Amino acid sequence: MQRVEEHRARYYGEDAPTISDAEYDALERELKDLEAEHPELVEPDSPTQVVGSARGETGFASVQHRERMMSLDNAFSIEEIEAWLARIGREAGDHPIVCEPKIDGLSISLTYEDGTLVRGVTRGDGTTGEDVTANVLTIPSIPRSLGGDHVPAVVEIRGEVFLPIEAFERLNEALLEEGKAPYANPRNTAAGSLRQKDPEVTAQRPLDVTTYALGALEWGDAEPHPSIGTQSGIYAVLAEWGMPVSAFAQALRGIGPIEGYLKDLEARRHDLVHEIDGVVLKVDDRAVQAELGSTSRAPRWAIAYKFPPEEVHTTLEDIRVDVGRTGRVTPYGVMTPVTVAGSTVTFATLHNKHEVKRKGVLIGDTVVLRKAGDVIPEIVGPVVAARTGAEREWEMPTACPSCGTALAEQKEGDKDLRCPNAQACPAQIVDRIAFIGSRGALDVEVLGEKAAAALVESGVLVNEAGLFELTEQDLRRVPLFTLESDSKKDGIERKAGDVSTNGLRMLDNLAAAREQPLWRVIVSLSIRHVGPTASRALATAFESMDAVRAASEEDLAAVEGVGPVIAESVRQWFEVDWHVEIVDRWAAAGVRMADERDASIERTLEGLTVVATGSLEGFTRDSVKEAIISRGGKAASSVSKNTDFVVVGANAGSKAAKAESLGVPMLDEAAFERLLAQGPGAVADGAADG
Ligand code: IVH
Repeated sequence: MQRVEEHRARYYGEDAPTISDAEYDALERELKDLEAEHPELVEPDSPTQVVGSARGETGFASVQHRERMMSLDNAFSIEEIEAWLARIGREAGDHPIVCEPKIDGLSISLTYEDGTLVRGVTRGDGTTGEDVTANVLTIPSIPRSLGGDHVPAVVEIRGEVFLPIEAFERLNEALLEEGKAPYANPRNTAAGSLRQKDPEVTAQRPLDVTTYALGALEWGDAEPHPSIGTQSGIYAVLAEWGMPVSAFAQALRGIGPIEGYLKDLEARRHDLVHEIDGVVLKVDDRAVQAELGSTSRAPRWAIAYKFPPEEVHTTLEDIRVDVGRTGRVTPYGVMTPVTVAGSTVTFATLHNKHEVKRKGVLIGDTVVLRKAGDVIPEIVGPVVAARTGAEREWEMPTACPSCGTALAEQKEGDKDLRCPNAQACPAQIVDRIAFIGSRGALDVEVLGEKAAAALVESGVLVNEAGLFELTEQDLRRVPLFTLESDSKKDGIERKAGDVSTNGLRMLDNLAAAREQPLWRVIVSLSIRHVGPTASRALATAFESMDAVRAASEEDLAAVEGVGPVIAESVRQWFEVDWHVEIVDRWAAAGVRMADERDASIERTLEGLTVVATGSLEGFTRDSVKEAIISRGGKAASSVSKNTDFVVVGANAGSKAAKAESLGVPMLDEAAFERLLAQGPGAVADGAADG
């Protein structure tokens, strides 16, 4: 119980937490279960019985709330939501339940008397909070007086004070520049800002508020508002008074729509201006709310659904290095496997030795691991307070772990160290071959990391030059691609040692890959700095490998989307004999080395830059680019002032928002097809609703 209490104080206060929110939730749950089994042990001041943090020796005046400020019970799965609905007798789909974002800020109670803001009080222990009126008055979105025709004599308006994520990031950048310690997260920062002794400091923090509940309410002589009978009505009333309310609140009926809402908001959680850690569900009908009542700490008519954690703690067991296809040596963390945002994570890149230093992580540290947004896990930093003294510093190796060659910076001042032995370093060769098989390159199914390693280890391939010369005979020498015992499949008998179905599939796929467009062949060469965008630009401009090879550095640099760095890299690449041999042997094996321009495609997008975002029905990510480029347009990946059109598909995120803020015309899929067919004239006006 003491541990829960300590972490609770850190959570609600401005001291950085030493455990993650998810660990706190688990700890609290454990205590709850224990108390449920042994009710005789429950103490009145147990964290499960009280609301918020009880400590408050901070110099702010204590103020008693007219009506208690409640906390919320948590649910961590859809089943727990269903159980809650059943518990309160609302599982039938005919009772509206209001769903809204659970804002990760700190709760505040704003008291208005005769329409005038008289007090702002933190939650405190739920009964008594701290008077932070002077600081609340610096928050611009909180009105000094209530508007509308129904202004009560007294009302306590409850909501959440937060620091927008962008403001938080800016503040931390500034602190780092001044050599000061950054804040742990926006919530702690908001708490620290609201409890500043000097309101002028608070005023410099762009705090904001969203309101979502009423405490005490006395209409006095005023006419009670007719909409006050439902939760959704309360939001309309709050808005009428001039209070900020959530734009995302929705009254839904039945578990299906509710589950849809939870999933949708979770997918979009990073598109909101503030952090959210879940969804709050509330019975809409306030008469039913009153009937259901509350426990000592939380209402029965509401529940908080917590998203799976995006930030967790785990142990950094080791730091190792990986040698990539361009020889770059990248340190990465090996961690005790941990679930974060729905998947198990064991490895996370640490980029380079400077990043390891900057993050200050030691082997053995408890680290904060984050999976922000979509996919890539990131080690945020160590939990210094959890160190035992047994941690040790990591040192960057000086020799390549794969071939032993001394590592070096390619240019002075480079952040990365590289293995210069591109021709013979096994790790680099394996990675290059696997890369050729990847979707962004020649897309050869079966040819992944494992197959590439097997081909090199068996000595069948010395490097990628022989890839398209592979025969069934060759694969018999690769254990991964041969049958261990006799088999009969689909009526065909095969003997041990024969090439497996998988091996045969790879050969078929390699044969098909010879027909891939030129840009994919260029990508597959692993020329430094030459990714899909530069490759496409080169293929469009030169139309054949021979022309790229013959082009001067100047010619190359003149291509839109290429530039001097890429031009130099391409030029140097073709000056190396074993590189040229790769191209020659691939060509001899039938790999396509030229694109014929399809004369039937009109160049309707000449000079236009188009960004596509979200998913479209008739296009894949690649085919949408293909469609733009083949018509002479530029397919860009980020929206800027120079973007001519943004094509917006389903579930588009921040790019659509950026386009809107920059006033870049947005096209739906139908309008995009008109643009492709007829050029910009066809979508000149009314682009957005086209
Ligand atoms: S309603 C009587 N709605 O979450 C119900 N709370 O973990 C009172 N919170 O104490 C709370 N977003 O500080 C409600 N949309 C929302 C919320 C919200 C964030 C906070 C609030 C509450 C805590 C419980």
